[in-house]
Amino acid sequence: MENKKVILSGIQPSGAMTLGTYLGALKNWATMADEFDCYYMIVDMHAITARQIPAELRKTQLTQLATYIACGLDPEKNTLFIQSHVPAHAQLGWVLNCYTMFGELSRMTQFKEKSARNAENINAGLFTYPALQAADILLYQADYVPVGDDQKQHIELTRDIAVRFNGIYGDVFKLPEPYIPKIGARIMDLQAPENKMSKSAIDDGGCVLILDKPEDIMRAFKRAVTDSETSVRYDLKNKPGISNLIQIYSACTGNTFQEIESEFSTKGYGDFKKSVGEAVVETLRPIREEAHRLIADKAHLESAYKQGAEKASRTANKTLRKVYKKIGFIEP
Ligand code: TYM
Repeated sequence: MENKKVILSGIQPSGAMTLGTYLGALKNWATMADEFDCYYMIVDMHAITARQIPAELRKTQLTQLATYIACGLDPEKNTLFIQSHVPAHAQLGWVLNCYTMFGELSRMTQFKEKSARNAENINAGLFTYPALQAADILLYQADYVPVGDDQKQHIELTRDIAVRFNGIYGDVFKLPEPYIPKIGARIMDLQAPENKMSKSAIDDGGCVLILDKPEDIMRAFKRAVTDSETSVRYDLKNKPGISNLIQIYSACTGNTFQEIESEFSTKGYGDFKKSVGEAVVETLRPIREEAHRLIADKAHLESAYKQGAEKASRTANKTLRKVYKKIGFIEP
């Protein structure tokens, strides 16, 4: 246990999780428990950088935890917890704010995108969000952070902050590496394949949720935007819609792009979209069924997140104490 490398990741409970979240992140988490010491959070503190409805936020978190477990994350083998239950995140987050530069934060793509979308609520938390994310990761001395492509910039900033801190105080933080899947790292919106599939753009019908019903999933794929050609061929630049569907099909079936192209060489887009829809339905079906069973079992969820917070706190507090000492805080 002691010598295992550490994995840490998190997802915002800012809405229902999407197929993109699943293929880019969650799907890969479930395979790691035997080899690594794994910490997976529900990042409620990050979620409040956008306005949330309190009752919804509570509900979303429990559904998210149930879905983590339904995706194969056994709470006995993985540390599953809620970020705000471990105060060290807020504590180290503040410290790291003081070691993160204004210019660095200004360059973050997620900040630029979110502030463009929510011009009426560009709060300080949204801006300093990456310093809290750095704290999330560095508290656990994580070796790898399994995320989708869009989070790479935040992990790189985390490394820069850690290097800066270590440069002043000695080796306090392990430098984490992003762990980005080869297939599924950037799933695009089915209606607007130039945009990332995202829970904040649910309304256009181009977003599939992990817990969506089979008929809704089939409908979304049937309507997916393609192009004016007829061949099922991977060409990200000229055929973004079809390329996205090939990527999704590949991630769900394990077939390579070449195998997929030859499987559909004599078939039309209609057949292909139906097959992709069916593959997604079958991938998500057992997760949806198990998640619904678990959502009904509140006691089990509560004991999982409590046990997770206890274990996470032990690890996180070790790092926090070390940091406080290094920077000159007096032990209470
Ligand atoms: P969030 O909540 O936006 O997304 C959660 C995870 O899902 C991945 N993802 C996708 N992957 C492929 N295609 C998509 N369309 C897609 N949409 C989302 C994201 O890359 C991410 O891995 N800042 C983080 C949450 C966070 C975190 C952390 C992550 C907070 N602290 C510490 C890792 C480590 C975020 O907003 O993810």
